[in-house]
Amino acid sequence: MGFGEITVHYETADSTNEEAKKYVNEDNAHGMLIYADSQRNGRGRRGKRWISDPGDGICMSYIIKPDMHPAEASMLTLVISLAVRESVDALTEIDAMIKWPNDIVINGKKTAGILTEMQTDGEKINYVIAGIGINVNMEKVPAEVADTATSLFIESGLKFTNKDVSELIGKYMDIYYDIFCRTKDMSLLKNLYEKNLVNMNRKVYITERENTMEYTAIGINDRGELLVKEDDGIIKTIRAGEVSVRGIYGYT
Ligand code: BTN
Repeated sequence: MGFGEITVHYETADSTNEEAKKYVNEDNAHGMLIYADSQRNGRGRRGKRWISDPGDGICMSYIIKPDMHPAEASMLTLVISLAVRESVDALTEIDAMIKWPNDIVINGKKTAGILTEMQTDGEKINYVIAGIGINVNMEKVPAEVADTATSLFIESGLKFTNKDVSELIGKYMDIYYDIFCRTKDMSLLKNLYEKNLVNMNRKVYITERENTMEYTAIGINDRGELLVKEDDGIIKTIRAGEVSVRGIYGYT
């Protein structure tokens, strides 16, 4: 089944990631899209809240049943960011970028975020829920994220229906998921990802637990890890999930 071929739509939900979990054992669950126009309890990465009030945008969750090892499936988040970026770009005709590992950025501000959750049984993946939140028609960014967030409307002056946005993302999900599954790594998508990586060849601060270090980002490897260079030329690999990344002059 293609991504979004089966779709369940809610006006509002607590969290579409939670809602999606109710459907994981259905026949043809792979690719199923659960989306809502707002959430009461939207969740972001690293325990943060995802603001998703009515009219702000789309809250989508895909059920994915990948036939691969959990370590390989952890790269899905980068694959999804490619699909979301491409859709945002196609809709707004503005060059959208990816902030590693998976924030979608326009003009240096975040317009979409991705939260993937994986359920495994040892080495076997039961399911992955890929949650995507996009600020679509939001007219004003909430004060608490005013410095770092934006929306498709704020950047392009255009409004879109959530249905149009989700259909486009489904189309690009089909394309990039298929390419990813050929090798189960980022080798075929690495060049495209790096071309759209906002951090590329830029100074970044990496915070790991309490410790913040400054590096230059130089790309990703086939496992989707961020490659950074220290001042002395030594190259380090940074794994998503363990760290937060920001630019030295602000969010990017
Ligand atoms: C991030 O922090 O950048 C990730 C945000 C992910 C938000 C989406 S909205 C749909 C899905 N349901 C949730 O509760 N969170 C994700």
